[in-house]
Amino acid sequence: MRGHSRLAYHTGAVTPCTMELAGAITIFLGIYVSCLLVISAWRKQSRNKNLPPGPTPLPLIGNFLQIKVGETLKSLEKLSAKYGPVFTVYFGSKPIVVLCGHEAVKEALVDQAEEFSGRAHMPTVEKNFQGFGVVFANGERWRQLRRFSLTVLRNFGMGKKSIEERIQEEAQFLLEAFRNTKAEPFDPTFFLSRAVSNVICSIVFGDRFDYEDKEFLSLLQMMNESFKEMSTPWSQFYDMYASFLKYFPGPHMKIYYLLEDMRKFIERRVKQNQATLDANSPRDFIDCFLIQMEKEKQNPSSEFNIKNLELTTLNLFFAGTETVSSTLRYGFLLLMKHPEVLGKMHEEIDRVIGQSRIPAIEDRSQMPYTDAVIHEIQRFSDLIPMDVPHIVTRDTQFRGYTIPQGTEIYPMLSTVLRDPSKFKSPESFNPRNFLEETGQFRKNDAFVPFSSGKRICLGEALARMELFLFFSTILQRFTLKPLVAPEDIDTKPREDGFAKIPPFYQLCVVPR
Ligand code: HEM
Repeated sequence: MRGHSRLAYHTGAVTPCTMELAGAITIFLGIYVSCLLVISAWRKQSRNKNLPPGPTPLPLIGNFLQIKVGETLKSLEKLSAKYGPVFTVYFGSKPIVVLCGHEAVKEALVDQAEEFSGRAHMPTVEKNFQGFGVVFANGERWRQLRRFSLTVLRNFGMGKKSIEERIQEEAQFLLEAFRNTKAEPFDPTFFLSRAVSNVICSIVFGDRFDYEDKEFLSLLQMMNESFKEMSTPWSQFYDMYASFLKYFPGPHMKIYYLLEDMRKFIERRVKQNQATLDANSPRDFIDCFLIQMEKEKQNPSSEFNIKNLELTTLNLFFAGTETVSSTLRYGFLLLMKHPEVLGKMHEEIDRVIGQSRIPAIEDRSQMPYTDAVIHEIQRFSDLIPMDVPHIVTRDTQFRGYTIPQGTEIYPMLSTVLRDPSKFKSPESFNPRNFLEETGQFRKNDAFVPFSSGKRICLGEALARMELFLFFSTILQRFTLKPLVAPEDIDTKPREDGFAKIPPFYQLCVVPR
């Protein structure tokens, strides 16, 4: 027997004694982990005890029962009717403070601008950006990248073509492409995105692409696809439960690969620029960034490095393409649905600009109707309805509540753009929302498609210039003809999540 038990010991066979020990360790670990969970839940609870009110969350799933998958915006608006303009919901165990309506959003983003200027992780794109690049950066990194990007965008074209001239030139290429459709039906998506993208491409890559360039078209398809993917019901679900779902494969991986392919394209462009750089004569945003990197290479707190260069360029390329082209695409659809509005724009263009010269940005101040229509298109199409999520940068007192540092904030831009206290016809498409009785343009501080405060869209000035010049140049030469009667045009977005994606449609552009 003794020989036997020695054998058992040497071969590691289980004896009653080792079993007891294993049992004790398991029980101990079980108690230890439970204690940790309880302590962490209690800590969270006490940290969050003075957050705004909201529906009671369940353990692990939070307010899953109150937020319908794929209808985040609608569900949050419903909750706002019950809990008021400022409330808290839980995505899993993560609290989100939701701000609804003009007053609450302005009080946060404008009156307490510094506190509300942080950027949250966006789970659908987190793996690509990891807090790098101007859109997803925070703190000192964000300040350096934002200041630099704004300066380059503003100064761009000094000595060379101005941005206005670049847009005017690109609009002529677009007119040519429209003429080639010979008034036959087509889907305008890539006609518009090629033209819009070429404007930002001239700034970041120093040149425009030919409309037939295969690589360009494939990049535009990737952008279009990822913008759509980021707005599907699955992505909204993933945004809520990423801490669990990220360990599994799923449609979110598609967004990762699309963005990664675009980053690789930029990586190649950066290498080409490095190889041909002349520090005395920067050609584009990438050159300016490389020069800044060289200037700051001895500075340990510099954020000018290759990772921030690639990802900021990707931010500008993406944000500078999909936003404006989706707005133009939605705009065309709304104008076909409302032919009386289209007619009045034609009339104003003919009266102020005529047919013998191309539109210029200084015409805008003489064209209140067109200006009002473009504002109304942006208000009604409501491109980024829940804003790009923010966080508070420190513990923040807001309307008597305490929001701990790092808490996520959803400024519901959609509810500001449809705030009944700020707009006469909040739910319908009506340019009078931006017109005085006398026909003059009327400003409205609830016009926030670009958000407000310190994180306000970095490309706002460029986007507004593009929208005016593209709309007026196209409508000077063409009228838009739908394939169905105006009353049958459905303007409901195709996806309604992070972005509102316009529905698919075809049209004819007919020379005037
Ligand atoms: C119709 C056109 C556009 C709309 C509706 C739009 C909307 C927005 C919104 C809602 C944000 C988030 C603001 C926030 O965090 O509160 C944003 C941020 C941003 N946009 Fe735009 N955008 C447009 C065009 C552009 C263009 C043309 C560019 C390219 C230069 C651009 C570049 C950016 C960048 C870099 C940010 C991040 C700013 C930051 O985090 O500091 N956007 N935009």
